Amino acid sequence: MNQHSLTTATEAQAIEEFRSDVLQGLSQRCKQLSSKYFYDEEGSRLFDQICELDEYYVTRTEMQIMERHVEEMADAIGANSMIIEPGAGSSLKTRLLLEHAAPGTSYVPIDISREHLFRCAERIALEFPQINVTPLHADFCQSIDLPPEADNGQRRVVYFPGSTIGNFEVPLAQRILEQIAHLVQPDGGLLIGFDLRKDVNVLERAYDDRRGVTAAFNMNLLHRINNELGGTFDIENFRHRAIFNDRASRIEMHLISEREQTARVGDHQFHFEKGESICTEYSHKYSIEDFSDLLEGVGFQEQQIWIDPRKYFAIGYYNL
Ligand code: AVJ
Repeated sequence: MNQHSLTTATEAQAIEEFRSDVLQGLSQRCKQLSSKYFYDEEGSRLFDQICELDEYYVTRTEMQIMERHVEEMADAIGANSMIIEPGAGSSLKTRLLLEHAAPGTSYVPIDISREHLFRCAERIALEFPQINVTPLHADFCQSIDLPPEADNGQRRVVYFPGSTIGNFEVPLAQRILEQIAHLVQPDGGLLIGFDLRKDVNVLERAYDDRRGVTAAFNMNLLHRINNELGGTFDIENFRHRAIFNDRASRIEMHLISEREQTARVGDHQFHFEKGESICTEYSHKYSIEDFSDLLEGVGFQEQQIWIDPRKYFAIGYYNL
């Protein structure tokens, strides 16, 4: 691993950002919290459990597609490339890709959780001694810029698995994809996973599992606010809800207030009606056509799409 790990924000800044995002989100007429705050230590652990659930087809299906087609993917990426992964790097999918990577590949994982990032980067560096690993501590919702010391003139390919792009509404998804296009200029590529539209019951079960792991994952946001921002949420009085919004083609996760109540965050008071919701996550489901249109809109040309037999999930490779 490179000696100087790259840093763009301190932990103190991170908590102030969390506070200001929470206060802002809860002050809206439709209360909301950003899904990027799911992933603290506990949230990441719960997410790993979600990936093991029978109902949650997403991770398993994407992994199957990778297993079947990783060689073609590595060919598309080519030799001497820099693989950049936003929201990085502990995943089996990444390891599979790096195992098949052509000679001269380097790897730049990006994450907002510094500990998580450095732990993953170190492990990858140990497992893949032939790959140069340079972790970058940054938030890909803001801008992504490679610091000069990481720029070695290699062709850049962003690897963006997990259908993470689906968490953003179209305008923000467009902005993130534009930033990715900018990052891989002039001749780079993008290997990206996205979730497909399917039976509503399959979708809703995947986000509201029998064992309540997704519910705990959602509720963890309130625990974080209580623990890190001195919040007074009475967690017992909220429940998890996941519904498919057909018109917007997305799963929406909410925390529903089970009665009229008030919660404080520092000096700020937030009132909840009985049944009022805090929207915590969108997870968009695309058709192949809609997704390629989205990417063409920011200058990426579709090269190849891989899909599982049930047509649940897709991985696309695009060039600028
Ligand atoms: C990791 C963002 C792709 O949207 O399916 C899983 C997160 N939320 N269960 C998704 C998630 C609830 C997941 N992504």
